[in-house]
Amino acid sequence: MLFFHSFKYSGVQMPKIIDRYSRSKIKILLAIFVAQFNAFSADKFNGSFGIKRRYKRSILFYEFFHGKECRKNGFPPNVFTKFYLMISRQRSTLSVPGHLEKMHKKAFQSTVDVVMLDLEDSVSLESKRSAREQIISTLKNLESWKGGISVRVNSVDTIYCFRDVIEIVQAAGAKIDSLVLPKVDNAGDVHFLSRLLDGVELEADLQTPIAIDASIESAIGVENIAEIAAAPRVRSLIFGIADYSASIGAKLSSISGHGENEQDIYPGHRWNFVMSKIAQTAKAHNLLAIDSPYGNFQDPQGLEKSAKISCALGFDGKWAIHPSQIDTINQVFSPTQEEIDRANRILAAAKANPGRGAVAVDGRMIDRATVRLAQKLVDSIF
Ligand code: COA
Ligand code: MG
Repeated sequence: MLFFHSFKYSGVQMPKIIDRYSRSKIKILLAIFVAQFNAFSADKFNGSFGIKRRYKRSILFYEFFHGKECRKNGFPPNVFTKFYLMISRQRSTLSVPGHLEKMHKKAFQSTVDVVMLDLEDSVSLESKRSAREQIISTLKNLESWKGGISVRVNSVDTIYCFRDVIEIVQAAGAKIDSLVLPKVDNAGDVHFLSRLLDGVELEADLQTPIAIDASIESAIGVENIAEIAAAPRVRSLIFGIADYSASIGAKLSSISGHGENEQDIYPGHRWNFVMSKIAQTAKAHNLLAIDSPYGNFQDPQGLEKSAKISCALGFDGKWAIHPSQIDTINQVFSPTQEEIDRANRILAAAKANPGRGAVAVDGRMIDRATVRLAQKLVDSIF
């Protein structure tokens, strides 16, 4: 499975690889065996990607017990799509200021998918050093946590970035899934971080390479988004709404600048272009698309509305800045029972009519495209 993951990061489209290896289970398992060996070597020497050890057993288990059934129903690639989704669910990400220990405790007791310990904008210049120390201490003392862990370092044009990376990864790299890189303007920013990580990981003897979440928050970042998405280690594109607004000179619509009162300022959805661009580019490169936080943490309706818009545009998840926002975000980015039932009815109808391209379900036409959509939804259920 390391094989599939490393190809994802090297920019090769997964379905092509899957087609080649989906002919028989023996071939797949052989490929996994060889690839694990190769990827292990590659991890060590080339800085390419593996997956967290804790996921491997469940992936193989799934292939053994469900793979045949999926292929029988005519959806071979989705077995692997499911594996991929299993390792990359990120509906909610809680941003937690790096220097505030009290909040770290709260974050690791929450139901969030990913805890993101922040060294950037929630930390004052005076606290940058103590924030690094606090994050290291929190991660070293962390005993069990079922979700993901990210650390947001400062942007590459600051005096803090390189020390953030070296100190945090050297001391606690084994606990970290990804580094969030803010204000990514071009692929060079990602290459810089990736090469720095190559050396730090080797020295720290890390077995699992750390991914990069690239935050797009400037006009030039959007201009260069495709090259950023194709850069090494990138696993997600994040929309940074406040800095992006500042970058293009767009009017502030609320006190926090994070997505409130948008309807008062523009007839429609002001961020449709940039958000669609981020979602489309992310998906073209098999990456996750993650939306910015919603600034008013005392407005659950506004948050739900904002999350529903990003979900509708193809985003996989959204940041939270307060624990009270987590449940709403998880709920919006999970399929409802009604949606699951509908998808199952579509799949059942397609299965019952194998010779027909289009059939009617609930008085509506469904065709192969509808079936693919339904299968994708079913695959995303955990
Ligand atoms: N992560 C973990 N815990 C958090 C938290 C967060 N982001 N935000 C608040 N909490 C905790 C508080 O410590 C408090 O815990 P307690 O009940 O044990 O005392 C509880 O949740 C309630 O907090 P509350 O009093 O409602 O919020 P606040 O006024 O203390 O803080 C913010 C409000 C916005 C300043 C705070 O939520 C925050 O700093 N958020 C993160 C900001 C950030 O990361 N920005 C950068 C990304 S855009
Ligand atoms: Mg920002």
